[in-house]
Amino acid sequence: MAETRIRSGIPGLDTLIEGGFRDKTAVVIVGSSGTGKTTFTVQYILHGLENGEQGLYVSLEESPEQIMREAELMGFDLKKYHEKDLFFIHLKGKNFKKMIEEQLPQLVKARSDYQIKTRVVIDPMTPVIWATQDKLEQRELIGKLFYTLKELGVVLCTVEEHAKPGETIGEDVLLPIYLSDGAIHLEYYPIGGAFNRTLKVLKMRGIHHGEGVYPYIFARGVGAVIRSAPVAASAAAERSHKKVFEEAYRTAEALKAPPTVLAKIRAMSETWDYDYSPEEALQIMFDTYGLKR
Ligand SMILES: Nc1ncnc2c1ncn2[C@@H]1O[C@H](COP(=O)(O)OP(=O)(O)OP(=O)(O)O)[C@@H](O)[C@H]1O
Ligand SMILES: [Mg+2]
Repeated sequence: MAETRIRSGIPGLDTLIEGGFRDKTAVVIVGSSGTGKTTFTVQYILHGLENGEQGLYVSLEESPEQIMREAELMGFDLKKYHEKDLFFIHLKGKNFKKMIEEQLPQLVKARSDYQIKTRVVIDPMTPVIWATQDKLEQRELIGKLFYTLKELGVVLCTVEEHAKPGETIGEDVLLPIYLSDGAIHLEYYPIGGAFNRTLKVLKMRGIHHGEGVYPYIFARGVGAVIRSAPVAASAAAERSHKKVFEEAYRTAEALKAPPTVLAKIRAMSETWDYDYSPEEALQIMFDTYGLKR
């Protein structure tokens, strides 16, 4: 892999996203109250701190002291990094719009000149959405926040969701999902049992991500641990998929398929690492381009 990936620090997650986040992207974690959003962000920032990186915590509601105290209750020691490698920006009060537009870019500019690897967290980002009813203004604020902070590294932010498990994603969280580079959905099914919490990767731009619903548990001192099966297909399945593609390619050629279509089939063949057969997808391709086999 040519591109360096930023490890999430959340055990099990990186195997779902080809080894980690892409640098300088914004990823949102969506979930209702108590699903573990804060835990994820603390794990992410702590992983960097433990490996010589810096952390920038953007908070809108809680003070740095409250955040560090809550992390401590979950078994994480953020205090020992405070003001050394861990910094807080508290965007409080009525004028945080002004802060996002003016002070934040200046601050980020000053930091980015130092070229220190920095993990950025915004937890929760919801007040930015609630700050205004105007969709266009919400869009500008979130866009600006992402654009400014991505300069420093991966921005992980949380968005509260109000839908119940299984319901479609609420309208208020669509905008941050849309404006981000990646989105992870956490759900909590209060039905008892060990694996009643699940994670789904809604999107991860430029990454071939796992498409399942993955259960996770909490482990004290570690945080969330995701039970993720590797996405790679077995070698035997891969060989038989290759044969299916070769046959399809030859058939398409014989049917005088245009070069662009042949190129698509070739591209599919080179990147297909799903563990299911490409047969159906190929048939849809053939149908779409009027190739009757
Ligand atoms: N190490 C742990 N061991 C056991 N349970 C934990 C652990 N860490 C978190 N939890 C449980 O997960 C719950 C939610 O954690 P967290 O605060 O990360 O959720 P959240 O999605 O940020 O919630 P909110 O929307 O209220 O901010 C906690 O109330 C706690 O019950
Ligand atoms: Mg939280």
